Amino acid sequence: MSKDHLKIKVPATSANLGAGFDVFGIALETPYDIIEIEKSECTKIVMLGRDSRCVPTDPQRNIAGIIASIMKIPVKITIHRNIPLSSGLGSSAAPAAGVAFAINEMFALGNSREELVRIAAQGEKATSGAAHADNVAPAIYGGFVIVHQDKIISLYPENIGIVAVHPEIIVRTRQARAILPKKLSLEDISFNTGNAASMVVGMMKNDIRLIGESMANRVIEEIRSNLIKGYREVKQSAIQAGASGVTISGSGPTLIAVCRMDERDKIAIAMMRAFSEKQVKSEAFITTIGKGISVIG
Ligand code: HSE
Repeated sequence: MSKDHLKIKVPATSANLGAGFDVFGIALETPYDIIEIEKSECTKIVMLGRDSRCVPTDPQRNIAGIIASIMKIPVKITIHRNIPLSSGLGSSAAPAAGVAFAINEMFALGNSREELVRIAAQGEKATSGAAHADNVAPAIYGGFVIVHQDKIISLYPENIGIVAVHPEIIVRTRQARAILPKKLSLEDISFNTGNAASMVVGMMKNDIRLIGESMANRVIEEIRSNLIKGYREVKQSAIQAGASGVTISGSGPTLIAVCRMDERDKIAIAMMRAFSEKQVKSEAFITTIGKGISVIG
């Protein structure tokens, strides 16, 4: 029997993890959005919370409304936002994955998790121009996810310290994708493939050092780092404070550091200080690899 109302918690996500461009993603324990779905004769969107005034509520221009329209089910959607907009923390993936998940659950549609990822990725296409699923897949599955063509593989490493520092800089995914080259040299492909492979082993072994070191990558991070004032200094400050690796979260501008759980606070302070020395305001999320979407009401 279908329900009348559903309330879910949808995690922020961090895509790429350096070498896994458009393939790797992790769910973060914090921040997260809360999404409520109610039966309705036509799709309506209510945006509340952080940056909500910057997001259109017209269902045809809102990613949540686009997902409801793809699923052909009108609903009232209330989004309590906490994930900062255009941050590289999956702020558009969260409503896309959340609404696909919630409609499926509420109307007992029986779509598999793989199908929900495919639906949610269509929403990503509408906003960034590409149907990459490396944010929506970890939002739905939780943990560390490898998503490539029709394959989705998830792993659930524990106690991996993550510090995500979000500077007050706007980077749009569409723009951050447009500046990337269409081709890479064999040498760069080999470097990135090696680190992507060792990242998977790091996640399987719960090896913080290997995960951090495997975030090194060629071409993509170097080009995108030009959009992030203070990138080099912040990265260096995190490594000096004990992080095993630092990279750009998704298309940026957030930087994520991987570290031991007990080192997160001092790394966050070091990274924020380094941004501040470049006159860039920032905020830190002290977090870990977390669960996927959960039903809370
Ligand atoms: N893989 C995508 C990109 C993620 O880097 O463009 C966007 O958040």
